[in-house]
Parts: sequence; C-alpha cells; structure tokens
Amino acid sequence: MSDPRTTEQWWRTAVVYQIYIRSFSDSDGDGLGDLPGITARLPHIADLGADAVWITPFYRSPMHDGGYDVADHRAVDPRFGTLDDADDLIGRAHELGLRVIIDIVPNHTSDQHAWFEEALTAPPGSDSRSRYVFRDGQGDGTEPPTDWQSVFGGPAWRRVPDGQWYLHLFGPHQPDLDWSHPEVRADFEDILRFWLDRGVDGFRFDVAHGMAKDLVGPLRDLGPAQVHHRIVGDGWQGGHPFWDRDDVHALLRGFRRVTDAYTPPRATVAESWAALDRRALYTRPDELHQAFNFDFLNTPWRADALRATIDRSLALAAGTGAAPTWVLSNHDVVRHASRLALSDGVDPDDWLLTDGRTPHIDPVRAARRARAAALLLLALPGAAYLYQGEELGLPEVADLPADVLQDPVHDRSAGRRKGRDGCRVPLPWSATGPSLGFGPGPAWLPQPPSYRSLSVEAQHLDPDSMLALYRRALALRHTCMSTGTGADAPLRWQSDSAPGLLDFRAGDLRCVVNLSDGPARLPTDRPPLLTSALSGAPGGRLLPDEAAWLGAGGGEAEA
Ligand code: NOJ
Repeated sequence: MSDPRTTEQWWRTAVVYQIYIRSFSDSDGDGLGDLPGITARLPHIADLGADAVWITPFYRSPMHDGGYDVADHRAVDPRFGTLDDADDLIGRAHELGLRVIIDIVPNHTSDQHAWFEEALTAPPGSDSRSRYVFRDGQGDGTEPPTDWQSVFGGPAWRRVPDGQWYLHLFGPHQPDLDWSHPEVRADFEDILRFWLDRGVDGFRFDVAHGMAKDLVGPLRDLGPAQVHHRIVGDGWQGGHPFWDRDDVHALLRGFRRVTDAYTPPRATVAESWAALDRRALYTRPDELHQAFNFDFLNTPWRADALRATIDRSLALAAGTGAAPTWVLSNHDVVRHASRLALSDGVDPDDWLLTDGRTPHIDPVRAARRARAAALLLLALPGAAYLYQGEELGLPEVADLPADVLQDPVHDRSAGRRKGRDGCRVPLPWSATGPSLGFGPGPAWLPQPPSYRSLSVEAQHLDPDSMLALYRRALALRHTCMSTGTGADAPLRWQSDSAPGLLDFRAGDLRCVVNLSDGPARLPTDRPPLLTSALSGAPGGRLLPDEAAWLGAGGGEAEA
C-alpha cells in the first residue's frame, strides 16, 4: 500500500498543526505574530513530524475578532505581512514537505468590508443591502427584528442610523452575509481560486453550519431556549432559522466543485458545531472531506464515554466514506492540558471565571492526562488536528487580568464569560527574552512564569519532555503508516480488556490507556514501543492516566 501522505487523499491520515497566527511567532516586534514569523519557525513543525499546517485568518481586518472579521479576503493585513510573505510561506512549507490549509470565513465579513460600507450608504431595500441581512425593527422600529442572540452575547441585531437593523450572529463588527445573493457565492468561489492559484493545499471553512438562513417571509422568534452554536441540538433536524440548515449543503457542494477542479484535488474541512449525526452530512462524498470532531473534544475523560464517542465517530465517518478526525484543543476552547484535569462535571468556562484558582487543578494529574491524551489522539485512525503549544503541554492561562483581555466574548457577555484569550497566549520559544522568544518585544498577551520551563528551548533536548513525546509519537505513527496498515485502518477493540481501560488496535499499533483509579497491567511482557509514563511503565504496569503504545502482534481483538 502506498504512503497516504503522498497520495491525493493525504488529509485522510494527516496530522495537521493549527497555527493561531497572532500568537505563534512575531518577526517584527509589534507584539503580534505574523507570516514571516511562521515561515521562520516552520522547521519546528516539520521536525515535530506534522504533515500540514492550518493557519487562522491573516487577511486585512480591523481585528475585532482576532482576524475572523475579514475586510478583504484577497489582501494580507499589514500587521501580518504581505502577499509576497504569504507566497514565501507556502513555498517554504512545501520545501519542508508541509501542506498549507488556510481559513475562509464565509458566514460574515468585517463591517469594514467594501460591501458593508456600500450597504450602509445605500437605502433600505437596495441591492447593496441585500448581500447582508437588513430588516426593519419591530413595533415602532426601535425593537430588534427578532429575539435572536449573538454567539458572543447580547442581541444579534444592531441598528444603523436610518433605523434599519442588520444581523450579526457573532460580534456587531461581523455582519452576516446573505448567501442567497448570487454575488456572494460568486465572490467566495473566486476567493478560493485566488488562493488555490497561489498554491494552498486546502481550506478550513469557518462556521460552515451557519451560512444558510431562512430569510424568506417574516423571521421567526426563537424564544427563551436559544441554542448556542456549540450545541445545536438534533431536535431541529435542519429546520433551525440559521444553524445547520439543510440548504447549507448546496453551498458546500459549490465549494467542493471549485476545489475539485484543481489537480490534485485540495482538502476541505468544516468547522461545524452540528449535532453528531447531522455533522456527518457535511462530509458526504460531494461535500467537504472532513468536519472537526468536537464531540471528541467535549467527551469527559472516562473510558466508557471516550469509547462511545470513538465508536460513534468511526461509524458516522464510515457512513459517508470520510476519514474520521480527532481534535482536543483549538483557539476557541480551554486548553486540554487544563481541561482534562478538571473534576468531572466542572464546566471549563465556569472554571475560567474563578481565574483558575478553584477548583484547583492538580499539576501532576494534568500533565499525566495531557500526555496520555496525546497517545490516544495520535493512535486513532484518521486525521489528527493539533493546536499550537499542545506539543509543549501548555496549560490554559486562566488568570489573565481583565484589563488585558481582548476577546469580544468578555465584553459582549458583560464579564459573564471570560473569553478565549487564555488559550491564545503567545508561544514560548526560549526561556529568556521579553516574550520568551515569541518576538523581539513584549507580546500582545502576557505569558505566565511557568512558560519558561515549557518553552521549546527548555524541552528540546529533554527526553522526558512533552515535546519529545509528541515527536516520538508522530515518528512512530508515520512508520506504521509506511508499513502499509496505518492510520486509515479500522479500529478493533481488545475483547478482554479490564474495565476502565481503553485498549484497541489500529493498523500496526495497539494503544492502551488506563482511565481507572488503580494501576493496570500491560497485556504483553514485551516492552512498549512508547509510553506516556515518565517512568516508562516499569514491571509492565500503567498507573492511572497513563497510556502506552504496543506493537499490534499478540492477543485476540474484537472484530
Ligand atoms: C469560529 C472561529 O474559530 C472563532 O474564533 C470565531 O470567533 C468564530 N468562528 C466567528 O468567526
């Protein structure tokens, strides 16, 4: 069998490293990461053993939502660099054998997008306004058109000087587009071609489950039980006024037609917070290749729960022929090195409001779980998405003071949610310097003292470090793939495993994770290929929250 990394469908087994550009590497000292900063640090990602990078938006933007408020998808924001810098990055990544996935934000634009500026100067009812969602208010016009709430908090409508209101499902600086307007569709397809022609290998589609809206006739109120975009329930079955509507799929097919016109075809992945069964619809053969598996990310650290999510995810992916995906962290959620150590039932967002002080996180348990979770994630068949800094074991920075917070979620929720800055603190590359090697000056968010010993420099030569564990795991994963039975292979559970253990084979690997309260005996006398235990699992025993990779030979597995 050929190496899937070199086949046309490389994404099926890829390890994709997410770069949150603002916080990765700052080349010019303005405190924000940038494209030349990424290019200079690409060898770190290649050495880690990743197959691809996904870079969050770097387009011209007033930066009200960290770049997810795009003013021009065809221009690089000067704070991030230039188009030439983007070309250099793509070229250098390819030289290093890394593919490049970029972010497309089709649900909304910035309020500084030329279309929105035109809409504001045009009269109600004009074609310019119909690229967005403008409506008259209720009653005497001073009440918003509906009771819809924005994901960031507060009403999803803002009033403009002539009295009309426009829809913004996220912040007020992010007006929603109306995808029934033919120019919207045509322009986005053209934007995809613009970047494909520059050599990108794929796209991540932001809020892919939100683009289609029911805007025909009077808009419906949703009542008090509004759904947050992270938990759109199955109850709606495609009939919600704006989340996960059935008519979004025609739009995704349109994207796919564009990317399939290129040789080799390019990768497409959906950010879709649809319920699990409905998420599979996004990866039907003529839609996107993958959708992030947020159910896995949200599954508690318990053997029964993880096994159920894994089985369900595999079955759903198989149903459409898509490769499963696995993810533990990204720039929108509490980093898993902290999250997994919270007691069962503690909501990470509530925990953040305590500034991380209570409930206390046991650092030993946190480190153990993060190491074991890495081996679990990377043994599962399919594609794995890593978030920058997880290879360093970075925890959430839960005690950022309110005056440095920049996430609009904090202000829009009137402080009821702390926001996402704690997982976006700039990376520590070295143990010294004004921003620990992130850039020549201070970073846009302060780094905690603990980042010194977690820096790349501090971990680079330490065989017990998290970085060393990720490097070894990725190298082994690739070896198993090149022997022909790797990460695209079916998963088989071991039939005789003890309660509280996850024990499965995928390709040439057998992965055992101990989620019970006591030590567990490894099922073979042969030494493990790799273990998350710092002690190396002496006497063939795994302590709670430890994991091991074994060769797949020996013992019977469930079909
Ligand atoms: C999802 C992105 O990941 C998040 O960071 C952003 O705020 C929203 N979409 C809105 O674009």
